[in-house]
Amino acid sequence: MKKITIAIDGYSSTGKSTVAKQIADYLGYVYVDTGAMYRAVALYAMQHNIISKTHFDKEKLIESLKSIDLKFKKEAAWNKAHIFLNGKNVENEIRNLEVSEFVSPIATIHEVRVKLVAQQQEMGLEKAVAMDGRDIGTVVFPKAELKIFMNASAEKRAERRYKELLERGDKVAYDDVLKNIQERDYMDTNREDSPLRKAVDAIEIDNSNMNLEDQFHMVLQLAKDRIAGRV
Ligand code: DC
Repeated sequence: MKKITIAIDGYSSTGKSTVAKQIADYLGYVYVDTGAMYRAVALYAMQHNIISKTHFDKEKLIESLKSIDLKFKKEAAWNKAHIFLNGKNVENEIRNLEVSEFVSPIATIHEVRVKLVAQQQEMGLEKAVAMDGRDIGTVVFPKAELKIFMNASAEKRAERRYKELLERGDKVAYDDVLKNIQERDYMDTNREDSPLRKAVDAIEIDNSNMNLEDQFHMVLQLAKDRIAGRV
């Protein structure tokens, strides 16, 4: 059967990773969460006094990139691959609101993007991959057979994210989550290097009023059409 590359981009908390993972599992493809990679670099920067609320040492970050090793590993008991930063599993730690606050400035740095994009392209060399992020259809895999661009209202996305954080046991306020989403939207779409854009050939899905099952079937049908060469 023909193997394709599936690129899923969109705003923060639009459920990109949920649908990318569902599709990858169904098709037996590899799922890659590229946001986790940017988050792990942000965590490294926080831990090494490179970024804080009051300073951001860009030169030190660029210099440190050679000391940052990112790997995805999967164990049978986990439902998805976890990200390891220099050998340590940081899958849980990278999801907190503090990392979310620092990740967008980290993702503006050209050298960071060059390093992560190269690693992402390598992971997709053999196709059969569903990758989610902000620049997958525009920069990482501009020739992907299927490109999806996901969107939903900021309020709907903040509601979903707020629930997720509460379920993890994080004590957060809804207003802070909404503010973080709005700030990341602004930074992700306005940065100079690889800003979040819908690729011209991407299919846009607004899932503000769509349930997960309908969304999954919609994307799966689009993937099946491309695998079968119907599109
Ligand atoms: O998908 P996420 O919310 O976990 O991503 C975290 C941040 O990483 C997001 O605000 C922007 C950045 N990012 C990026 O610039 N490019 C990607 N391919 C993925 C994420």
